[in-house]
Amino acid sequence: MKISGSIAARYHEATKYNPTTIGNLPDADVRAQPSPFKDYHTERAVDLIAHLPSELFPEAAERASAPGSPDPNSRLARLSRLLYFTYGATARKVWEHGHQIFRAAPSAGGLYPVEVYLATEGVEGAPDALHNYYVPNHQLSPVFDGEWISELSALSYGAFDPTSVSAVMVLTGVYARSIWRYHQRAYRRILLDTGHVFGNVAAYASHEGFDVLPISCFHDDGVNGAFFFDPEQEQAQLLVAIMDRRGGGRAPTAVDWRRDDEFGASANQDFLEYHRASALSKSPRPVPRFSPSTASGNRPPVDLEFPPTLSTSPMAQLILERRSTRRFSGESVSWEQLCKVLRAAYDGIRDQLAGGQSAPSLQTPELLRTHVLVRDVTGLAPGIYELDPMLGSLNLFEEGDHSEAALRFGLGQDLVGQAAAVVIHSADLTTAIEQYGERVYRSLHMDAGVIGQFMNLAAMHHRVGISGIGGFYDDMVNETLGLSSDHGIMYVTAIGASA
Ligand SMILES: Cc1cc2nc3c(=O)[nH]c(=O)nc-3n(C[C@H](O)[C@H](O)[C@H](O)COP(=O)(O)O)c2cc1C
Repeated sequence: MKISGSIAARYHEATKYNPTTIGNLPDADVRAQPSPFKDYHTERAVDLIAHLPSELFPEAAERASAPGSPDPNSRLARLSRLLYFTYGATARKVWEHGHQIFRAAPSAGGLYPVEVYLATEGVEGAPDALHNYYVPNHQLSPVFDGEWISELSALSYGAFDPTSVSAVMVLTGVYARSIWRYHQRAYRRILLDTGHVFGNVAAYASHEGFDVLPISCFHDDGVNGAFFFDPEQEQAQLLVAIMDRRGGGRAPTAVDWRRDDEFGASANQDFLEYHRASALSKSPRPVPRFSPSTASGNRPPVDLEFPPTLSTSPMAQLILERRSTRRFSGESVSWEQLCKVLRAAYDGIRDQLAGGQSAPSLQTPELLRTHVLVRDVTGLAPGIYELDPMLGSLNLFEEGDHSEAALRFGLGQDLVGQAAAVVIHSADLTTAIEQYGERVYRSLHMDAGVIGQFMNLAAMHHRVGISGIGGFYDDMVNETLGLSSDHGIMYVTAIGASA
């Protein structure tokens, strides 16, 4: 890679899995697993359960029928459902020695390193405060009282108008929860997880009358300082401005990308070192957007000809039922199914790339490349394709069955080898970092996670099995796809028929 001075590039290189060194990584000590929850033990918790859809939650139905029951259309009720369908507890598994709570968003290893906070102002039923969303009780715990929205707008360099925003979500990473098992590479998975969580926000918000704007460029020290986070333990990854259409809020617009870094001098490849090197200060410089190039294969492109259907589906039900597939049957999926999943996931992104009106859901969509490795899709020749999001087509690069290579680069996981199709997101890190600076490495992972979540929801809707895959031998993926070493592999998603 040419950008040897970049800490992002060095961190990426140092955290690649490699068959000869992966065995040197220490095993996780099961007795030392950190709790996936943060309990602020407040007596002023804002109960959100009463606002959940009563047809899905008997407890909510009981509370809703009590005298003085809450208005289901109030802002607090709609925020309650937004939080629940973003990251709420949707399943529980009982093990021999305890139980595990599964959430609305998937998480690498089920470790849930992302913590959700919500700043509210003028929301009836909740104090103006920075709250923590406490998942086990579905409640807001006020952490710091006060009006925070103007402050968060200033710390986001004015990305949103504070007078039209009723809440701001802050998604953080609690590092130990994931480091515990994944060591230095945990940071990459935490960013992907953050993208999945925001994917739910973006998919669900409009159902409650909210417009949302993701903001990955913010003044790190300012935001983290507001929470008094210990930077070695937890830091903010993404802010989400939440505008209430019913309150006359203005629809958000795309944010300028900003950078103010020089390539760092550290020789360290520690994720915290990278995170620090990519922090933004008080007055970063805006950078003009990079123009995307379109993919062209060696055959006429195959059009993704089916109309998107995700927006008309019962989104809440989909999120509630979503689970990662644990085993594929090995059977084929149809071209129509694959096509619908890709179309549903990419339709809004295409609009964003084309400068359309829909709210942006990604930070740097023009930098991500999407390859689809087809093993067994009826109606589509096996081979390696590249998706062109602008044209809505798949371009065949190399015909042939590459499932053995997929099994190998997927750390031998059957889920990858038996997938009908494997979707791979990558980015030319040299170009990306030269253009946007160190921080782009964060947004590339979060964007890949957002697309991953859109694909998850679309796959649920079309009854196709799917799972994110964060563990892969990076260089082998490059080799399989014929990508130069400048390309960093962000994320792999396996799609197939559920066993
Ligand atoms: C970023 C990310 C990486 C993941 N990597 C893998 C993987 O390599 N192998 C696997 O079997 N599952 C993987 N998963 C799926 C998780 O194990 C799954 O989301 C988690 O167990 C929670 O279950 P649920 O998605 O059904 O709620 C990944 C999920 C995410 C979000």
